[in-house]
Amino acid sequence: QTPVRVALLGAGTVGAAVARRLADRAEVFARRVGAPLELTGIAVRDLGRPRDLTGVLPGLLTDDPGALVDEVDIVVEVMGGIQPARGLIERALRAGADVVTANKQLLAQHGVELEALAGREGHGLEYEAAVVAAVPIMRTVRDALAGDEIRSIRGIVNGSTNYILDMVARQGVPFQDAVTQAGDLGYLEADPTEDLEGLDAAAKIVLLARAAWGGEVGMSDVQREGISGLTDADFENARGTGQVIKLIASAWRSGAPGAPRIEVAVRPTLVAADHPFAQTREGTNMVIIEADSAGSLRLSGAGAGGDETASAVLGDLINLARARVAARD
Ligand code: NAP
Ligand code: HSE
Repeated sequence: QTPVRVALLGAGTVGAAVARRLADRAEVFARRVGAPLELTGIAVRDLGRPRDLTGVLPGLLTDDPGALVDEVDIVVEVMGGIQPARGLIERALRAGADVVTANKQLLAQHGVELEALAGREGHGLEYEAAVVAAVPIMRTVRDALAGDEIRSIRGIVNGSTNYILDMVARQGVPFQDAVTQAGDLGYLEADPTEDLEGLDAAAKIVLLARAAWGGEVGMSDVQREGISGLTDADFENARGTGQVIKLIASAWRSGAPGAPRIEVAVRPTLVAADHPFAQTREGTNMVIIEADSAGSLRLSGAGAGGDETASAVLGDLINLARARVAARD
């Protein structure tokens, strides 16, 4: 079978894990897709930076991402940031490729235009990894519940702040030390203020709200407060009242019947110690979806980390590759 050609943009925490899995699971992926996945190049910023690319063919690294996106079937964007990621994705879609991305900030700010472009060009744009990494929540909200009416989505959607809050509250680790530990685990964004100020959680809840109710919700609609302003007194007060502080992201419908409004918020919230959110430890995420017919659904699992996020990226990649191979026949 002719290979499905794949370009990888980024070889950091997520990209390096994707590259390693493409190498060490090549045979099983070829069986699942019906053709081999051929990695044609890996774009990075700094060619000299040490990175673990065990098993990956040497010579694939380049610092010219534009050179990779025109001649492939699928582009996987795990660089992060708005530019050049946005321009590269647009170029890839126009050149005939499908795209997988984990870039929640780009999608929250420009996803509506990118989805419209993908639709016009007749190509796929998939981003399961952008929201709660390993947990298949986008598919659940967008596809599995497409025949239901979602009332609300509420949960812990940021692994690094959950790790930090858990370390401070349960283990008495000083706030800054917990931030460093979250970084060492690969949970934090390249700019950690995205996590600490709730921007990362805001982007995820925007993407979930759009998947549930349509494309009108944007980052400026989010009522947002991060965790950087929390004090020792806040943690002591929570402990004294048998509660814990969690960074909770919520989306819900309000307003009169016939004129519904979508509300979105991210804020530190006191949660009773026996609530499932309070039991959500370290980098784990949990989301509770309330839907008219399905009732209450609870999804939880790894919301950050290289291999965990690569799981979702590779799932999207394999599904798009399968569709490509099926369309050849
Ligand atoms: P990262 O460790 O900072 O890696 C970014 C990679 O992109 C690096 O290899 C970097 O090159 C490369 N890069 C950045 N700008 C570039 C440019 N202009 N040209 C060429 N290469 C460039 O980030 P990450 O944690 O893997 O995250 C990647 C994406 O996944 C982000 O959108 C993030 O929000 C998303 N995500 C991350 C996680 C997670 O747990 N980490 C989970 C879900 C989603 P160098 O290596 O040379 O610096
Ligand atoms: N920085 C993000 C988090 C990575 O802490 O959840 C996963 O999106």
